[in-house]
Amino acid sequence: MSTTTSITPLRLITLYEVSRQINSQLNLDKLLDEIMDQAIALLRAEKGLVLLREAEGGELGVKVARQMDRQNLIDAVAMSRSVIERVEKEGEPVLLQKVPDIPGEDATKSMVMFKLKSIICVPLKAKDQLIGAIYLDTTDKACFFKDADLEFLEAFANLACIAIENARSYQEIEHLNANLEQKVAQRTRELQEKNAQLTDANQKLRDTQMQLIRSEKMASLGNLAAGVAHEINNPLGSLNGNMDVFVRSFDAIRKGLESDDPEARKKAYKAALNLENLSRVSKTACERISHIVRALRNFARLDEEEFKQVDLHEGLESTLVLLENRYRDRIEIIKEYGELPQIFCQAAQINQVFMNLLLNACEAILETGKIYIRTAMSGNEINVSFRDTGVGIAPEQLAKIYDPGYTTKGVRVGVGLGLAICYKIMEEHGGRIVAESRVGEGSTFTLTLPL
Ligand SMILES: Nc1ncnc2c1ncn2[C@@H]1O[C@H](COP(=O)(O)OP(=O)(O)O)[C@@H](O)[C@H]1O
Ligand SMILES: [Mg+2]
Repeated sequence: MSTTTSITPLRLITLYEVSRQINSQLNLDKLLDEIMDQAIALLRAEKGLVLLREAEGGELGVKVARQMDRQNLIDAVAMSRSVIERVEKEGEPVLLQKVPDIPGEDATKSMVMFKLKSIICVPLKAKDQLIGAIYLDTTDKACFFKDADLEFLEAFANLACIAIENARSYQEIEHLNANLEQKVAQRTRELQEKNAQLTDANQKLRDTQMQLIRSEKMASLGNLAAGVAHEINNPLGSLNGNMDVFVRSFDAIRKGLESDDPEARKKAYKAALNLENLSRVSKTACERISHIVRALRNFARLDEEEFKQVDLHEGLESTLVLLENRYRDRIEIIKEYGELPQIFCQAAQINQVFMNLLLNACEAILETGKIYIRTAMSGNEINVSFRDTGVGIAPEQLAKIYDPGYTTKGVRVGVGLGLAICYKIMEEHGGRIVAESRVGEGSTFTLTLPL
């Protein structure tokens, strides 16, 4: 091969055009077709082959063939093998211009068999590695292909090689891409499944939590009902007892009125006096009952689910009335109420918090003790604190007391949820709850609510 090019300017332009065309083809099979057609057209050859190495170090295999029928193709490849093998072995182009009739050193069997006059074959090289070859031949005449054709075809082969490498890279990228997409899709599916499982688990957890909260509500309602029943029973009992005395007193009065016996009149007079007293006692009992009923209604606020302006002291008082049987004669309640404006909250919920904290305080005082209830405004916040002189909480347990189900009180319904619910209610009100405690001295729970 000469170092100075003998490619004519026209052929250079043609090459440029052809390279533009083949470079835009990224489909490898179509590209090889195009390379074949262009090579045949460029050299006006009769027949042709494009061969590629399948794998590194593998044999060259026919990828495209033109003007060779199936059997011919097999024979031709077999026959032209010597030329192709030479190219494959030496990595240099081969040009056979004159084919002798008898197969000899420079001739091949195929030349004889197919009456080939001229054969040209150039390697396809990428980074100095042979990746394939372009083979052309003709039966037209000897010396059909010239040295210049060889150089031209080599130049074309160089361009073709770049295009082949590009198409292969593109194919590889596409393959990787498809793989990647597949992997992403697979991961997405897995994640979606996980997500669904998590959502499911979350829902179950929420269901359980709701159940727990409901059972705590039931439990505190049970507590409440027991307390209230007890509270109402006392005045009711005294009313009942009074009724008997009423009956007897009226009897004595009637007898005294009907008789002239001074003794009987004296008894009647006494009975009348007694009645006056009894009426007062009965009135107190009735008042006590309606007081409790009012407190109950105020505490529960059954008709009000929404946020409203409420008087926290009213809520505290009602709660204390309902809990009275828990502390009466045992615990002194000391109220240190400050000036509080009405505050915007869900009264029934806040009362539930008061109830849970006061109940805990009562339960923490084993025999006798004191509960201080202090309310105060500081800045734009309101503080309500409950201090008891009970058993106290150890520092390592202080962090756990808000956990749902945490209790030190043995087995009963809705156990260990009181503070968890307080925490949640305070959170919903944009407020907070803080506990301080010393074992053996007592505990203070402080609620803070924004104004
Ligand atoms: N005022 C208090 N004094 C001492 N311990 C308390 C007090 N309040 C709460 N605790 C501790 O916190 C735990 C959790 O309280 P709570 O959530 O109301 O559940 P429960 O009262 O059903 O046990 C109690 O079992 C108790 O150990
Ligand atoms: Mg409790």
